[in-house]
Amino acid sequence: MIQIAIEGPGGAGKSTVAKALAKSLGIVYVDTGALYRTVGVAALSRGLDTKDAAALESLLPEIEIDVRFENGVQSVYLNGENLGDRIRTPEASMAASNVSAIPAVRAFLLDTQRRIAQKNHVVMDGRDIGTVILPDAPVKIFMTASPEARARRRTLELREKGMEVRYEDVLREMNERDAQDSGRAIAPAIPAADAVMLDNSDLDIDGTVDAVIAVMKEKLGEDVIDEMKGLSKL
Ligand code: DC
Repeated sequence: MIQIAIEGPGGAGKSTVAKALAKSLGIVYVDTGALYRTVGVAALSRGLDTKDAAALESLLPEIEIDVRFENGVQSVYLNGENLGDRIRTPEASMAASNVSAIPAVRAFLLDTQRRIAQKNHVVMDGRDIGTVILPDAPVKIFMTASPEARARRRTLELREKGMEVRYEDVLREMNERDAQDSGRAIAPAIPAADAVMLDNSDLDIDGTVDAVIAVMKEKLGEDVIDEMKGLSKL
């Protein structure tokens, strides 16, 4: 199976590019953040402190997480229930970030992620895919852009959702989050030694997808790529 890991800090456009790439190639886009969000919501719904490692450890045997792909779209089920947009609220984001720093939670989600990548060609978007989950992935992209470019994109995204935000505040918070994510003790959000760094400060989505495909061709060879469904459309 072909495994493409796409990682990087917030606002670098990982999910947008990974989704577009997977669609073009006709392969599965895996949003691993959704798994951490689901565990976070499971903890919140039981009234747990999402930073309490012992509480999370005792929660894990009670939950079953199932990832399904329906019409090419990923859905995550918690004990048989699709939580939908409940994993996208600000509370869920914070809960996901908290539980993702707990080693037992990362260990719990490891097999789920690896199983998906064993059964499907994947474009997997996350924080520790190239370093921990799929260390042998032949294509690892660490997508970055200048803090200013990322903050500009994030500011536009939030304003499109109707939120009144100041660019300066978004930039400051983004810099703080970057430092925290890349500095955490377990599975820090850092590039794998064999990752290709892709700075897309001056590229749009199509340009970034093209740059990823150029890396894929170099790493996998044209033949393998040509065999992949849908590539002729690119
Ligand atoms: O990508 P996202 O915003 O949906 O991720 C939610 C949180 O989960 C984020 O704070 C970091 C964490 N996460 C992680 O630690 N490892 C991953 N592979 C994916 C997400």
